[in-house]
Amino acid sequence: MTKVLVATVKPFAGEAVKQIQDIFDQAGYECRFLEKYDGQEALKAAVVDAEALIIRSDKITEEILSAAPQLKIVVRAGAGYDNVDLSAATSHGVVVENTPGQNSNAVAELALGMMVFQARNHFNGKPGSELKGKKLGIQAYGHVGKNVARIAKGFGMEVCAFDPFVSKESIEADGVEVYEDLEKMYADCDYISLHIPANQHTIKSINYALLSKMKKGATLVNTARKEVIDEEGLLKIFQDRDDFKYISDIAPDNREVIEKDFADRCFFTPKKMGAQTAEANINAGIAAAKQIIAFFEKGDTTFKVN
Ligand code: 3PG
Repeated sequence: MTKVLVATVKPFAGEAVKQIQDIFDQAGYECRFLEKYDGQEALKAAVVDAEALIIRSDKITEEILSAAPQLKIVVRAGAGYDNVDLSAATSHGVVVENTPGQNSNAVAELALGMMVFQARNHFNGKPGSELKGKKLGIQAYGHVGKNVARIAKGFGMEVCAFDPFVSKESIEADGVEVYEDLEKMYADCDYISLHIPANQHTIKSINYALLSKMKKGATLVNTARKEVIDEEGLLKIFQDRDDFKYISDIAPDNREVIEKDFADRCFFTPKKMGAQTAEANINAGIAAAKQIIAFFEKGDTTFKVN
């Protein structure tokens, strides 16, 4: 019996757990859940006989891979795989996959929800502003960016995007204006929404120089990764400009300083929750389970990222 471990510090919704279990039961696989575990030692102990692993933002390091001699495949139920040491996985002969697009609507809805929350002064009852007629710049037009564009249009926003990896034609086909100059997009927009992955090219790329290009009164929205922000630059822009606002689903390490001095111009969710919906958990969890079965039964590696 193929042994699958679902290791999630942040557990899937109950319905997703049930559906994942059903899929593996029907396929004749053994599936165990390790939820809300405390530290890497617990994960190390649990992976010892696992042949397949489903994770979320759980960290898969060389140490974990060394503790899992039977492991053949890790599926990150979600989009970003910066939590997996890809080269270590490759050298252990482990395939790493993600489930692109499966949780993107949930993240996009949160981005727009946070924008409304900020525009309405954290729902404090004082007059705020509307999203209608405002210009939104989407940085990276992948699955989440595309959903953000769709929802923002429903709000009556003017939507544009910057993404050198996506064809101009396909972005324009969504009725979204294309920017080839990122600084110009920052200068023109009332809202900038980040949807870039965290990698060697993007880490700390949202820096003081770029932020200082932002339009007066603009809001930066981050539902991507905290690592893409240069936090010193972020603090400096808050200090320099009393019109700058930052709302994020991934609080910066200097959260306390920013919240203390600029409370009305920032908002951070208590815990990363962009993909925390039953629907997103079901979609990503089922996709991950099916990808594992397709891998073992048919050698399918369509979603391999290493
Ligand atoms: C992703 O990369 O899919 C999102 O950031 C969601 O991450 P999570 O599964 O840890 O909530």
